[in-house]
Amino acid sequence: MRRAMVGRRLQSSLFLVCSASFVRPASSFAPRQCSTSLSSSPFLKFSTCSRLFSASSMDSEVSASNSMKTTTTRHDSICVGGDFAGLKATFSPKDGALIPIPEYLVPEALLEWGQEPSSLEVLVSEEEEEETEQSGLKERQTICVLPAIGCGVDNLETQKTQQEFSTETTSYSKPSDSTLTLDTTTTLPSGKEGRVHQTETLFSLPDSHRVRISLNLQVLPNDSAFSYQIQSPIVMYLERQTNTTSNRGTRADGGGLDGRTVSTLLGDWLRLAHNFGKNKPLQWKPEKEDVTATITSVIHLPENVTIASGPAEEADTFMLQLSHFSKEGSRRTIERTFQGLESAASVQYREDSGKCLPSGE
Ligand SMILES: *[C@@H]1O[C@H](CO)[C@@H](O)[C@H](O)[C@H]1NC(C)=O
Ligand SMILES: *[C@@H]1O[C@H](CO)[C@@H](O)[C@H](O)[C@H]1NC(C)=O
Ligand SMILES: *[C@@H]1O[C@H](CO)[C@@H](O)[C@H](O)[C@H]1NC(C)=O
Repeated sequence: MRRAMVGRRLQSSLFLVCSASFVRPASSFAPRQCSTSLSSSPFLKFSTCSRLFSASSMDSEVSASNSMKTTTTRHDSICVGGDFAGLKATFSPKDGALIPIPEYLVPEALLEWGQEPSSLEVLVSEEEEEETEQSGLKERQTICVLPAIGCGVDNLETQKTQQEFSTETTSYSKPSDSTLTLDTTTTLPSGKEGRVHQTETLFSLPDSHRVRISLNLQVLPNDSAFSYQIQSPIVMYLERQTNTTSNRGTRADGGGLDGRTVSTLLGDWLRLAHNFGKNKPLQWKPEKEDVTATITSVIHLPENVTIASGPAEEADTFMLQLSHFSKEGSRRTIERTFQGLESAASVQYREDSGKCLPSGE
């Protein structure tokens, strides 16, 4: 049984341990009560929670993973607004390396066994602006599900955060039908001269999935020029829209959110296929190299995302390109150009064709 996600692997190996202890038919899918009294084996307390059994039978609402295959490079429209379930992982802007989940959020037993997950599960609710003129996102609630084992899986611990997007400080654009940008610019908290651009870039993926990259760029005046720096961490969300109507982040209210519910919301593709730390990212070989680019830094992230940056052609400007490529040989790029302390970047969209290569080639 090949399972990419660490948590899944852990659960399947624990499942083996459990079946050895209990001789339970594998076809039993009823939710179970936690029990720690059956033996003194340290594994038993991880044994009987429902997520172990959620792999296949209760996913009638999710589509099969092989429907991710499309034969053309037509991209799906981007999903925005409503409820999403997804995975959140963080990366270093230096080299794109995975930044592990803070240890204090991970149960000690998982750390001891080197089984900490590479990402956190999230439930996201987005409210769109009502009026269509200045359409955009109004607010977003994010419920972060903390890793759990044992009985914790039946009543998950969560952390909720809320973002509000005001039309005064946030610019929202749809560079193409399949992409979206959501940028908020703030001054430095210290009162120093300078700005932080909080950028979000979204690319649609098949079957109501999307990849969302959140990246902060700091701009500081420096002598007569400006210095531009991508701040750590870069955050990537892989998400699936689970409802076009938002529940306003109420899913975990009153407690009782369980692993099976989260697992069902994530769906097959998100649940089974992603271990952000394990595999080297794929790389992209464009059909035509861009000779005019003044790129000085390229970071390869998992999930076919590349971030390239460097000075733009005009003096004192900075270019930030986020790309997503697919195995069908198509790459979408969102390019922002920042100019000094100006509040918004100019945004451009491009598509090109090329080849997807294993990393290192
Ligand atoms: C100014 O920016 C340049 C390029 O970004 C950098 O190499 C240099 O160290 C900066 N100088 C100061 C005083 O921060
Ligand atoms: C979607 O949300 C609406 C409103 O909250 C709810 O009535 C409906 O049952 C939800 N649909 C699914 C599939 O969860
Ligand atoms: C990245 O590309 C690989 C290979 O084409 C594909 O299997 C995978 O689903 C892609 N992931 C995303 C998030 O696009």
